[in-house]
Formats: sequence, structure tokens, C-alpha cells
Amino acid sequence: MSHPPDAKQNFERLLDRMQPLVDQALKRYAWPNAAAPRRIIDAMNYSLNAGGKRLRPLLVFAACEAVDGDMQDAMPVAAAFEFVHTYSLIHDDLPAMDDDDLRRGQPTCHKAFDEATAILAGDAMNTYAFQAILEGVGAPARAVAAALELARASGIEGMVGGQMADLESEGQQPDLERLRYIHSSKTGALITAACVCGGIVGGAHGKTLVSLRRYGQQVGLAFQVVDDILDETATAEQLGKSPGKDAAANKMTYPRVMGLEAARQHASELVESALGELEGLENPAALRTIAAFFTARTH
Ligand code: IPE
Ligand code: IPE
Ligand code: MG
Ligand code: MG
Ligand code: MG
Repeated sequence: MSHPPDAKQNFERLLDRMQPLVDQALKRYAWPNAAAPRRIIDAMNYSLNAGGKRLRPLLVFAACEAVDGDMQDAMPVAAAFEFVHTYSLIHDDLPAMDDDDLRRGQPTCHKAFDEATAILAGDAMNTYAFQAILEGVGAPARAVAAALELARASGIEGMVGGQMADLESEGQQPDLERLRYIHSSKTGALITAACVCGGIVGGAHGKTLVSLRRYGQQVGLAFQVVDDILDETATAEQLGKSPGKDAAANKMTYPRVMGLEAARQHASELVESALGELEGLENPAALRTIAAFFTARTH
């Protein structure tokens, strides 16, 4: 992995600029009128606000900025991606899946509440994401395009498909092609869609969306390769989740299939190649910064 000394500093500066937008989006769209039992609302707020890095909403804003779009138009879509991502984490941590106790530095949702509440909180966040897009994006054609993109990325053609293959591949013989499918689907698809949807709400079309998609596919895969590496090399304090779980569950991971050093190298190459996709965009500085952070990160 390359560690340009300024990658983390640049990311911090980007956060100073964009974190307020992310916070505003989540505040505005996190189920303002939900008249449901307190317990599920509490569980949703608990997991949403436990302290994630907010990378997917940041990518939505960064992609919108890259095409010179209006950041206000990106608000509901940015929120929607964090809702789907948080739902995916709540379900990923359930005993029937990865069976984790720690997430975002706190007890997982099913530990803090109970399994039924965690399942329902995840379900509610998933569907609320589409509500936020369809209610919040002013231009109907852009709302439909963004909702379709998110549906494809988060369901059977994306994250859910990848999660099924991830579970089925526990204990299986290393298979790089299968692993690439798992990682591109369970993690890469949502990251890719965040980039494409930022472009869609920013008014981009055609070739510009193709560039954003290619960028997203490569950084999205790199992101999960680094997640695998950190599971082997980082501490619970750094990660806010328990390390060593992939080996314990005999998961198919990049370090396991190609070795740690080759996995680092592969992540760097993916990010390098992703940066090349940004050439034709109006204002890609934020997307560059995020790509560099994806390999430099230690959490
Ligand atoms: C963790 O994602 C799950 C993966 C897809 C690898 P993040 O590392 O973005 O988690 P948070 O949002 O910061 O908690
Ligand atoms: C999770 O991959 C991907 C999704 C949640 C969709 P992991 O199972 O590796 O994520 P962590 O390590 O638990 O965050
Ligand atoms: Mg998992
Ligand atoms: Mg997991
Ligand atoms: Mg992991």
C-alpha cells in the first residue's frame, strides 16, 4: 500500500469541508416523522450515530462536486447511502452472519438491543433510504435514476448477492475470481453506486457517469481489500470492531488468497488505476483525496 504522507492530512482537510454537509444530510433525512415504537427508532439512531467514517455520503458529495453539481441536490442521496450501509452492517454483525459484538467502537445493534430489533432496524433503514431519495430529490428523472442505481447495488445484483457468496465461501478453497465477485459485490457495488449517484444528482450523463462508475468499481474493490488487510493487522481500538474475525471464520480474503504484501500492492494498483478515470472530470480533487485515503487508512 502506498502511504503518501499527505494522504491522511488531505482527507482531514476534506472532512473539515464536507463533514458539515454529511451531518446536515443525516440530520434532515434520518426518519424525521417516524411514528413507530421508540425502541426501533432508538436502535436506528444508535447504529447510525455510533461513529462511522461516512465514506459513502462523502463519495456522493465528492462525485457531485466533480461534475460541478449543486451539493444541496445531493443531500437526500448522501443520506440514503449511509442508511443502506448502516443497515448492511447491522445485519452483517448478526449471529447468523458474522456474529460480531463490536461495531463503530460500541456494542453491535443486536447486543445493545436484541436480534429482532436489529433485524427490523436494518430493514427500516434499507427502505427509508429509498423514501429519502424519492421524497427528497426534486427532479423526478434524477430521483428515479438514483433509486434504481441504489436498488441494483444494494440488492441481489450487488451487496446482498456478495454477502451470500461471502458466507458460502467460508472454509472454501481460495479462488481469486470468486473472491473478486464477493468483494466487488458486497462492498464495491455500494461504493460504486455512491459515485454514480453523486454524478446523477449533479446532472451528469453519458461518458461522465461511465468514468465515475469505473473509478467507483476500482476504489470500491480496493476498499474491501484494505478492510481484509486491516482485519489481520490493526487493533480493535483502531478499527472500532474486533480484528482477526476473518481468519477465525475461515473467510476467503485477499491476504489469505494472495498474501498480505501482494494484497497491499493490489489495492495500490486499483487506486492508481481509479485515479486515471478522473482525468476528464471538471473538479475531481475530492475524489482523488478519498481514493488516496482508501489505501492510506488505518481504520
Ligand atoms: C465497513 O465499512 C464494512 C465494509 C464494507 C468493509 P466502513 O469501514 O466504511 O465502516 P464505517 O461506516 O466507517 O463504520
Ligand atoms: C462487510 O464485509 C460488507 C458488508 C457489510 C456489506 P465485512 O464482513 O468484512 O465487514 P466488517 O469487517 O464486518 O466491517
Ligand atoms: Mg461480513
Ligand atoms: Mg463482518
Ligand atoms: Mg471485514
